[in-house]
Amino acid sequence: MKGIILAGGLGTRLYPLTKITNKHLLPIYEKPMIYYPIETLINAGITDIMIVTGGNHAGDFLRLLGNGKEFGLKHINYTYQEGEGGIAAALALAEYFADGQPICVVLGDNIIEKNIIKAVKDFEKQGKGAKIMLKEVPDPERFGVAEIVDGRLVNIVEKPKQPKSNLAVIGIYMYDERVFDIVKTLKPSDRGELEITDVNNAYVQEGTMTWEMLNGWWTDAGTFESLLRANILVSQTGANNK
Ligand code: G1P
Repeated sequence: MKGIILAGGLGTRLYPLTKITNKHLLPIYEKPMIYYPIETLINAGITDIMIVTGGNHAGDFLRLLGNGKEFGLKHINYTYQEGEGGIAAALALAEYFADGQPICVVLGDNIIEKNIIKAVKDFEKQGKGAKIMLKEVPDPERFGVAEIVDGRLVNIVEKPKQPKSNLAVIGIYMYDERVFDIVKTLKPSDRGELEITDVNNAYVQEGTMTWEMLNGWWTDAGTFESLLRANILVSQTGANNK
């Protein structure tokens, strides 16, 4: 399986911290944010990795990470997203890299306490379709929210005003090779973006989406509040523990 880290965007919710750098280069405790999703993939045995970035500071990723020697990698792939098109639009840029193989997509600002080794192995066995990971949260209206009926995932709603559950869809997704064809069918949402939730619902409707609960804490880091929380959590327990 190949790994794709989405680290573009302008990070406007963190302005002015993001005025002169990319959100994913900001510190989370003792490391730049982008280190954490890279470690998430490597811990799960995924070492063929592409970083999708954009904005005005893309060159800094190369200066920081190079070929990934610090992580024991021989090479890191990079691609550049022009403008802002949403998560699914960023993903579309990785089609050439994926080259017909299954992929694990990680949002660059998602940090986890433990690991996704089991989920990755399960998805490799699953073969077809997609897999998402869920986590109970106190504020589901901030995320994609899963509706589960009798243990079955029936729908995902992006930032619902009245969430049907407290189960957030975290920013770690596994897809078969058809994901890029699905992205091509999407229309922009009300916020003008191609939504990853629409990609996921295509698999839900097809009946090929599986889900697992994530062990340990999970946080994003794209707002002042969650950036602070990420720093505190990482300082207390570390992240990407095996
Ligand atoms: C995105 C996704 C959302 C998901 C979240 C996880 O939200 O659209 O479904 O729950 O990442 O971090 P965004 O950060 O773009 O608001």
